[in-house]
Amino acid sequence: MARRVSKRKAPPKDEYLLKERRKIESYVFDRRVLLLLSRILKKGILKSVDYPVSTGKEANVFRATTPDGNFLAVKIYKIETAGFLKKMSYLEGDPRFKSIKHKDREIVKLFARKEFKNLQICERAKVHAPLPIFLSENIVVMSFIGEKGIPYATMDMVEPKSEKDLDSILEDIKKMYKAGLVHADMSEYNIMLAKVPYIIDFGQGVVLGHPNAEKFLERDVRNILRYFEKLGIKRDFEKTLKWIKAT
Ligand SMILES: Nc1ncnc2c1ncn2[C@@H]1O[C@H](COP(=O)(O)OP(=O)(O)OP(=O)(O)O)[C@@H](O)[C@H]1O
Ligand SMILES: [Mg+2]
Repeated sequence: MARRVSKRKAPPKDEYLLKERRKIESYVFDRRVLLLLSRILKKGILKSVDYPVSTGKEANVFRATTPDGNFLAVKIYKIETAGFLKKMSYLEGDPRFKSIKHKDREIVKLFARKEFKNLQICERAKVHAPLPIFLSENIVVMSFIGEKGIPYATMDMVEPKSEKDLDSILEDIKKMYKAGLVHADMSEYNIMLAKVPYIIDFGQGVVLGHPNAEKFLERDVRNILRYFEKLGIKRDFEKTLKWIKAT
């Protein structure tokens, strides 16, 4: 007689496995990413991937070293976000859901491609942003924003912030707009403060053809002005917006 698997015992085991897998996957690269990284290394773009600069919900960012000893940043968009993993543990191996797996990977690849293309626009427009170096599926290689191999802090973490910093950020928003791009996720967390502020995290940036582009621009400007206003540096929103849009 075939043994019956107790349905009541299955969930805790499932949850345990899921937890363990999450633990493992948050510490090491998955096989596919390792393969992509080894290809990038073989191409001679990188010599080593050194350490994680940031481990986030949507992406991990690593410092890497080039064969000639310079540093680059490697941003790896995560396919296995917590919610997604949960879904996967029930769908994996089921041939009916192959397309779902495929779709999620495609979406993540799209984000990486979008970030890369947006960084290319920024490079052409001379915006203070990382330079795009290489794109491979969900991996974006870009210039490293830091000094002596140490990344600069994001704007929320450093003092002081000056009127000049605000000017530089607004000028960059204007340059982007002129080039047909809106960042759409502007905040103190997506600005790294070097001698001048550098804008990062372009995955959700949109071109002006996007139906919400103008709304996103207004939100970006509002976020930045609100942040600086709290520091006592005030600017009029309408005037600033008009200035950004003026050619
Ligand atoms: N080019 C770079 N050079 C050095 N450090 C970088 C670079 N790009 C990103 N970082 C560091 O990695 C962090 C996360 O980067 P980013 O904002 O692009 O990712 P994210 O999409 O916000 O990730 P998540 O939402 O998962 O946290 C930044 O706050 C910054 O500290
Ligand atoms: Mg960010």
